[in-house]
Amino acid sequence: MTLPASLLLLLLLGLSRAVPLPEQDADDERQDERPDEPEDEPEDEPEDEPVEIGARILSTNNGTKEFLLEGDLKAPIMRSAMKCWHGDDRCLWPKGADGLVTIPYALSGQFVGGQRRTIESGLASFHGVSCIRFVPRGNQRDFLSIENQSGCFSTLGRQGGRQVLSLSRRGCVHRGIVQHETLHALGFKHEHNRSDRDSYVRITWGNIQRQMVYNFEKADTNNLGVPYDYSSIMHYGKTAFSMDGYKQTITPIPNPKVQIGQRQTLSDRDIEKLNKLYKCDTTGKAEKTC
Ligand code: CU
Repeated sequence: MTLPASLLLLLLLGLSRAVPLPEQDADDERQDERPDEPEDEPEDEPEDEPVEIGARILSTNNGTKEFLLEGDLKAPIMRSAMKCWHGDDRCLWPKGADGLVTIPYALSGQFVGGQRRTIESGLASFHGVSCIRFVPRGNQRDFLSIENQSGCFSTLGRQGGRQVLSLSRRGCVHRGIVQHETLHALGFKHEHNRSDRDSYVRITWGNIQRQMVYNFEKADTNNLGVPYDYSSIMHYGKTAFSMDGYKQTITPIPNPKVQIGQRQTLSDRDIEKLNKLYKCDTTGKAEKTC
């Protein structure tokens, strides 16, 4: 497909995101009775409940007015995200003389109590395993603005200036989703879009909602010499964008029983790729959550 044709197709597909996804986890929202918070504030959910990251993000994003690529990636406006993967470092956050990649963030006042703790915990989880450091914004020009917009989404890599990372209070305030969207902001795409994915998963095109097919296009990714990772927090689940919510759209090969999409934290390979992309001196291992 030529570039102008693919852009036109993406635009048309983005405009047609009105067909509802199957309801998933509709009962998961939990009202917590906290006297110091307004009654209509949705509380984040317990950390020990497994969260199907892909399903939750896609379910929450259903109905958002944002034009989202691959389900939760905001379309880049100023640049080609792909250029970054070919040696242009402008979409990466810069490293300071101290060897740390310090990323300022501003957390919307709409997040309260446990929501703030969940988001800050998700950001801090990068500190122990990489050279990434999130700090509250002072007057830095480039920063992540973490907002309660309609859906879970992020731009890809550093965009420059204020860039929104949206975590809707209704469905996105989970530590794993914070980590997922933050990895987008750090420059990572979804695992199933990798250039080598056809050796590891089979895409069943006929099971995909027609207007969502673009979410499954392969990308010319920089895989950083790290093998395909079924357990990546950036991998979607088996029924992502399924026509009926049950038929598989992504099936691991040769063993279809391999788990994908079910993530609660960064995988070892997520961390390895992060440290390679940012050339961190440190390395880390995924924390154990059980
Ligand atoms: Cu995503």
